[in-house]
Formats: sequence, structure tokens, C-alpha cells
Amino acid sequence: MKQVNVGLLGYGVVGKGIADILEANHQLIAQRTGVDIRVTKALVKDLDEVQEKPPHIEITVDPYAIFDDSSIDIVVEVMGGYEPARTFSIEAMKRGKHVVTANKACIAAHYCDLLAAAQENGVSYLFEGSVAGGIPIVRAIRDSLTANNVRSISGIINGTANYILSKMTDEKISFYEALAQAQKLGYAEVDPTFDIEGIDASHKIFILALLSWGVELDFNAIYTEGISNISPIDIELARELNNKIKLLAIAKECDGDIDIRVHPTMVGEDHPLYSVDGVFNAVYLEGDYLGPAMFYGQGAGRYPTGSAVVSDIIEIARDMACDIAGKRIQPFGYHTLRKARIV
Ligand code: HSE
Repeated sequence: MKQVNVGLLGYGVVGKGIADILEANHQLIAQRTGVDIRVTKALVKDLDEVQEKPPHIEITVDPYAIFDDSSIDIVVEVMGGYEPARTFSIEAMKRGKHVVTANKACIAAHYCDLLAAAQENGVSYLFEGSVAGGIPIVRAIRDSLTANNVRSISGIINGTANYILSKMTDEKISFYEALAQAQKLGYAEVDPTFDIEGIDASHKIFILALLSWGVELDFNAIYTEGISNISPIDIELARELNNKIKLLAIAKECDGDIDIRVHPTMVGEDHPLYSVDGVFNAVYLEGDYLGPAMFYGQGAGRYPTGSAVVSDIIEIARDMACDIAGKRIQPFGYHTLRKARIV
């Protein structure tokens, strides 16, 4: 059986989740794919931060111990943040490694460099875990909807913000109490400003627009408003109108331009997004031939996001087994992106 080795850049919440899933379902994955996939190394900032790990994973503080290890086929970047995530991903690709990431901030800021590096080095660069945690929305748009023009997307795509708004609505607890709970559960980013100010949702809707329309957009031009100014009075007023306040990320194509924004929105009880509560995410979209569809699931957390990242590792491992990894034409390949205005 072909063996595929994985090096993790980051061994935090998601990194450990990936290692756990590949360990626990190792045999099942091997039976289903015909490939033996193993995490062999993991990069951390400080060796003392690792309390427990499976014996076959070597922990290192030197990223080059992963980049220059010729036995490693796939590098998984789950460090978060912009740098050194971008540089490390490109260094890995230059050495012929396929790269998988869940790092939406890095993609939104540096997608041109990252997609170009993948194309120039003939490797795969996949990011299912970057949007909506465990929901396979990236693959759905990239593969299942290839024959459709996506007309519009509306999503609840930040689990922390949705968790906070749901707790404020259902349990009438304060914004800060709800935020503390989301952080304790490992949903929030290291810097929760990204969650509560809508920036994380903005990164994710940017990625969905990139996938749907193959567009190069100015990330900084996206109108982004978070939930930190939502007060219990706003929640109560919405309830009186049979509405809920949700942080929506919205994108539409309008004659080649893109209307894209993130802001708190009153959602009526007749809309499918009304019932999406807690850490759950949902993406409601319309395709010209598909019609309306909603994708729903757990949008954050160790195992939902880990499961999405593992799906990309498996896709590459399967492609490697048939010698086509990095060779498929990507609908959002660097050379096919078109510049579009945000309106
Ligand atoms: N902080 C993010 C969220 C994690 O709450 O949705 C998953 O991207």
C-alpha cells in the first residue's frame, strides 16, 4: 500500500484534531482509499507546549526539519495568522510538497502568491477547512456546482459570532459571558477581534467569492461590520418582530461586479438561516440550475475543522496514488482569475 506522510505546521486545536482523526480512523481511511496516511512530524513554537502525542509523531521547532524531509509529501498549515504561514506554505511548495490549510486569513491576504506558487511548482493547494469548519462547502462549490453559475451566497460563517448571538437570544446572557464561553470551547480565533468584528467572516466570504466567480478582489474594500455593538435591546426588538439578529456574509455577482459584505442582519422566521443557532454555520446559495440549497453543519472546533482538513489530505493522497496530484485544472487557478470591482 502506498504510504503518504504528512507534516503539520502547528499542533494546536486543529492540528491535534487532524492527528487524532488520522490515528483513530487510520484503517478505515486505508480501506477506503488504498493509501496509508500518517502524520510523521509536527512543528510547534515551544517543545514544552506538547503534553501528549502519539509516539510516531516527531515534534520539532525547526520548520526546515519538515520542508527538507524528503519523506514528507503533504504539509498542513494550521498555524493561523498571516506570517510566517504564507512564507512557510510557499517554502513547502517550492520543495514540491502539496499544501493543505485551514487558514482563511492567510488565503484572503495572499491568495495570489499562494495560488501562483502552487501552479509554478505543480503541487496542490487545498483549503476545505478554511470556510465553515466541517461543512464541505469549498468542495461543493468547486466540484459539485462546476456546471452552475452561482447567483448569490448568504452565510452564517463565523461560529463564535453565531454562538454569542444565540446565547444572548436564548439565555439572555451578556455579550462578554457568551464570548468567554466560545473561547473556552476553542471556537474563537487567538485574537477574538476577528470573530466579533466580522473580519473572519469577511475572510471566508472572500474565499467563497473566489471559488464561485474566479475573481481577484480587494479584500480591504469589503464592507465589514461585526457584532460588538449589538446590545440586549437590539436582540429584544428583533424578537418582538419574530426576527433574530445574525451576522451574515453576503455575496452576489452583478454584471461582472461583486456585491460582497458582512454585517448583522435581521433574519425573519421564514428564512432557512433563522434556525441556524449556536456554533452551527450554514451557507445558503443559489445556482442557476441547482436552484436554492443550504449547507449546514458545525462551523468551528477541533474535529469538524479537522475532518475538513483530512478530506483535503485524502484527496491529495488519492491523486498521488494515480500520479495526478497537482495536475488537475483548478477552476480558480491563478492564471484564470479575473479582476472584479466590489460594488
Ligand atoms: N473562529 C472561527 C469561528 C473558527 O468561530 O467560526 C472557525 O473558522
